[in-house]
Amino acid sequence: MRFDVIVIGAGAAGMMCASVAGQRGRRVLLLDHADKLAEKIRISGGGRSNFTNINTRHDCYVSENPNFCRSALAQFTPQHFIALLERYGIAYHEKKLGQLFCDDSSQQLIDMLDAECRAANVDRRMGVRIEQVSRDDDGEFVLACSAGNFRAASLVVATGGLSIPQIGATPLGYQLAGQFGLSVTPLAPALVPLTFHVDDAERFAALAGVSLDVAVRIGKTSFRENVLFTHKGLSGPAILQISSYWTPGQEIVINLLPDEDAEAWLAERSGSEQLLANAMGELGWPKRFAEAWLAAHAANVRGKDLSLKQRRQLAEALHHWRVLPNGTQGYKKAEVTRGGVSTRELSSKTMMANAVPGLFFIGEVVDITGWLGGYNFQWAWSSGFVAGKNC
Ligand code: FDA
Repeated sequence: MRFDVIVIGAGAAGMMCASVAGQRGRRVLLLDHADKLAEKIRISGGGRSNFTNINTRHDCYVSENPNFCRSALAQFTPQHFIALLERYGIAYHEKKLGQLFCDDSSQQLIDMLDAECRAANVDRRMGVRIEQVSRDDDGEFVLACSAGNFRAASLVVATGGLSIPQIGATPLGYQLAGQFGLSVTPLAPALVPLTFHVDDAERFAALAGVSLDVAVRIGKTSFRENVLFTHKGLSGPAILQISSYWTPGQEIVINLLPDEDAEAWLAERSGSEQLLANAMGELGWPKRFAEAWLAAHAANVRGKDLSLKQRRQLAEALHHWRVLPNGTQGYKKAEVTRGGVSTRELSSKTMMANAVPGLFFIGEVVDITGWLGGYNFQWAWSSGFVAGKNC
């Protein structure tokens, strides 16, 4: 069967692209191997989907070339997506830091994109296994699938990243890039909890569940949000954010008192009989955290025990607690995949491969990884829209 456009992947980017292309009068086939549409939208944001961020800027994305996403983000902005939502009467709210969530359910977004696809006469086939993709002498893409053979002049790859394989993630998009001679940058789990080495895991085992407001830094990149101790290591928004910048062997630096001058605080206690672990309650620290952290740095110490040099050392440790993670919790727990089809291979204006006319890559399969907070869906909408206008 012949179509103008075949889109592989009925997720966020693929549905947006298919609906936009269909509205242009293109005959579109949307294929997915999963039985259900856009499972990642459904589970996102605790079932309410953090579907965009009103502060979206190109520098909220990690990529070999962060400038690449500028064009698509400008062509389809958060305001465009909000306007679409409002047309469907979907209620939403800002939670914090520009993050917009549905008031009711992420299913509303899936239903909206589905309705957009239907209105644009998109032919959709779910539960289809793609066995082979090739290109014939006329330059048409030919897909041999469990549901038959399909062909089209344009092929849009919207297969997402590798995270959460149990709901349908596969490496097909990266394999297709390789098949057509396009480079893929190194892949890694991102927006993912980090794990402790054995020593730290034992030392901080009792802290699972403790959450603190901190600033976490790697080099010049820093995030001010909560860190959460888990049974395996560190999580929480600050850690998920910094994980997108982390490479194995690298330390992360945690400022445990981002709003305090630790040295001045310790100096105020220089004559005090009180154990520091108790005094730290004033700083909002849970007692079990103060005890466990101080046990590793200055056990059973009272304010009056510290010399000026020791105060300075402790203050330095409080503002620059260096943690060397031993890894991440991997794709099973990662929200996204860092890396992907190299931006050098694609046109930023259309998302088409420079060297393969008619072949497009959109969404998470591309080497564009957003921060936590709605940026990844915005990239999916923007890149899907742009490809939909050009495929
Ligand atoms: P997406 O993964 O949405 O879709 C890919 C589609 O391709 C899937 O339907 C899949 O079945 C299909 N596919 C894969 N391999 C195939 C094959 N071999 N054959 C056929 N089809 C195939 N982001 C955000 O901005 N706000 C948020 O709140 C969240 N929350 C969140 C929670 C959780 C738990 C996760 C795992 C992720 C998030 N994200 C997020 C990230 C966000 O979900 C993600 O970046 C987008 O869904 C990416 O959209 P894509 O369309 O590129 O891929």
